[in-house]
Amino acid sequence: MKHFLFALFALVLPVAVAAQTVVPPTTGRNGAEIIPLSSLEIGKATTGWGSNRANTSTDGNPLSLKGNTYATGVGTHASGRIIVKLNGAVTHFVATVGIDDEVRTEAYDNADYGVCNYRAVLRAENGNESVAAEGTISIRDTEAATMDIDCRGWKFLFLETHAARGGDSYDHVDWANAYFEYVEQNSTPPVVVSEDEIASRFACATTVFAQPGVRFMHRIRAANPAAQIAVSGLPDGLVWNQRRQLVEGVVAQEGQYTYTLHATADGETTTQDVSLTVSASLTQPTPFMGWLSWNVIEGNISEQTIRTVADAFESQGLRDAGYNYLVIDDLWHAPARAADGKPLPHPDKFPNGMKVAADYVHGKGLKFGIYSDAATRTCANAFGSYGYEEIDARQYAEWGVDLLKYDYCHAPGDQQTAATRYKAMGDALKASGRDILFYMCEWGVREPWKWGAETGATTWRCTYDTRDCWIGATGGIGIVQSIDGMKDLWAYSGVNRFNDADMMCVGIHGKGRSSSDLCATGPGMTQTEYRTQFALWCMWSSPLTLSFDLRQPIAPDDLALITHDELIALNQDRLGQQAEFIGQTGDIQLYAKDLENGDVALLAVNLGNATARATFDFAAIAALDPTREYLVRNVWQRTDAGRATGSLVADVESHATVVYRLAAAHNLSAQAAKAAQEQPRVSLRKGKLRVELPGSKGAQKRILVSDAFGHVRAAATTSAATFATKVDLPKGDYVVNVVCGARSHSAKVKL
Ligand code: GAL
Repeated sequence: MKHFLFALFALVLPVAVAAQTVVPPTTGRNGAEIIPLSSLEIGKATTGWGSNRANTSTDGNPLSLKGNTYATGVGTHASGRIIVKLNGAVTHFVATVGIDDEVRTEAYDNADYGVCNYRAVLRAENGNESVAAEGTISIRDTEAATMDIDCRGWKFLFLETHAARGGDSYDHVDWANAYFEYVEQNSTPPVVVSEDEIASRFACATTVFAQPGVRFMHRIRAANPAAQIAVSGLPDGLVWNQRRQLVEGVVAQEGQYTYTLHATADGETTTQDVSLTVSASLTQPTPFMGWLSWNVIEGNISEQTIRTVADAFESQGLRDAGYNYLVIDDLWHAPARAADGKPLPHPDKFPNGMKVAADYVHGKGLKFGIYSDAATRTCANAFGSYGYEEIDARQYAEWGVDLLKYDYCHAPGDQQTAATRYKAMGDALKASGRDILFYMCEWGVREPWKWGAETGATTWRCTYDTRDCWIGATGGIGIVQSIDGMKDLWAYSGVNRFNDADMMCVGIHGKGRSSSDLCATGPGMTQTEYRTQFALWCMWSSPLTLSFDLRQPIAPDDLALITHDELIALNQDRLGQQAEFIGQTGDIQLYAKDLENGDVALLAVNLGNATARATFDFAAIAALDPTREYLVRNVWQRTDAGRATGSLVADVESHATVVYRLAAAHNLSAQAAKAAQEQPRVSLRKGKLRVELPGSKGAQKRILVSDAFGHVRAAATTSAATFATKVDLPKGDYVVNVVCGARSHSAKVKL
């Protein structure tokens, strides 16, 4: 308000005649160079309104204080501060601070307007401070204040303005004729730094969740990597691990807890409260697993499709492998809502109503998800939920919906509106009386990992739609772009707050609809690339969502991939940690993931076109102890791969991954060590595979035969202790896995 009004007045009122124009001297004391404050990067400084401007007022007029004009200076607005890193060679700072004459008309008669306090503060390397100048400036009662500050020996100068009296109305402050005297002796000139650069905002989750009695980990990171971090007020059971910069432990009791993070850099401390909810009934303790209809079905979604897909979840073993959310995406809608505003499904697609479809899904022991959008229309132009949040949430609850994917097409771009709209739906879902997993889909555009949890969401998309390709074309998300979007978000992930990398394209083989668009390679990927996608999603703790056509039979290799129990175990690990990106050397990227039992999963992915060597240097991976011996499990192969101390080296094929699970050797009990050595007796001769697992009679077992690259070439299920079948495989080395309950045994065979 204050500025629009002023702009009008400025046009019609006569401008005061300047008594004089002040210009800075050409040299300072003892021949020092003059550096105007306005020549520095003042855009980095905070301001109470508008922007900081060089050599004009904040409204863009010539700098003017009490009738004098100034050739140089910075126009700003209270409350704000300009932080100058002096860099050792500034001798003096000179300025005149006051309220710019441009607000004279509006502010003069109102004692609350155009008045604020200012301070110039020096800070030393050790954090000690000295107030070099301070006072009140006003458009009416005070003269502008002039300062000449000796800066020698100080590290920072803070030029601060604070709103006074009735707030910050018309507080158009000028730091006029503001300049540094600077002695150039191979030294660095002063610079303006941002608030983030001197202290630090936290770059990690601040709304976190845990289950009572289950190990918890919260990694703390500040935007400024040089910041010293401390934590106070931890609840019983949690400790601060300084070396690894994380809070960890076990909280026994359910409840709502708060602890406080402190980040100190250059004497500036930022504090941040963390909200920790400990509950035995979290909506999403581990990433949800399931299937979404969009990539291959799009608008052909119907009750019949849902029945067929739910049957496939059961008959193909997906449900037993952990996939339990069947989610219908866009275009389930009737052309319009009912007269009373309630959402309606399309009568041809869902002739028996949505509840019947949901009941069918529930009858299979599965959960039912639905889709809407935080605007009046969805992405495919069906009706959205904006303005209907409560009606829709209530209706979803009545239908038996267990998950809502909430999209953001046709909605305003700013983060504030997005947060408000998502919270409106999050609140409505909470009030619906049903536990509905709230899945945000604004594609990561507004950094939902920073605020999504506060809306009630427990997972949020971090990229645009994944495409069935290794590299996406412009705007398309192939695996390479998924990696770019996900790899640095690990400090924002945790139990009940997962970063989502979107639907996996495994199994689509180029036969999708929109997922086949915007590909630079493909559409369709090699099985190696699908395996890489699956392994990355598991390591990232992304929801594991399938999107291929479950109305068709699943190829054995695809089924073996998506039901790989040891990879799924990494994804579903109850510590809920997204793998930390360790770094990239050449084409090889390395990741490390802490696991609940203290094990650490390692992944190397090769982004290049030729086989390359990956070296895991344990000293560079904080989760590992370089002095300790680890038992190494080759996760893809489900084989024990010996012991390692200090490092682990592996050759990785082009676009492939290697995944290891490391257990500290001394942590293994004698019994577990024995179990790890237990081997099935396996022979593969003359096309006949024979597997014996003594003592396993009656227990359901899956038998998988994988080739040297880990591709499953044959699979079978049995409950007998001895199993024999014919297999038709070329000569070579194979691994036979026998997966029995939570245990997996393996043996190598040669054909
Ligand atoms: C997009 C969303 C996709 C799919 C589609 C439906 O915005 O990212 O995953 O839901 O809308 O129209």
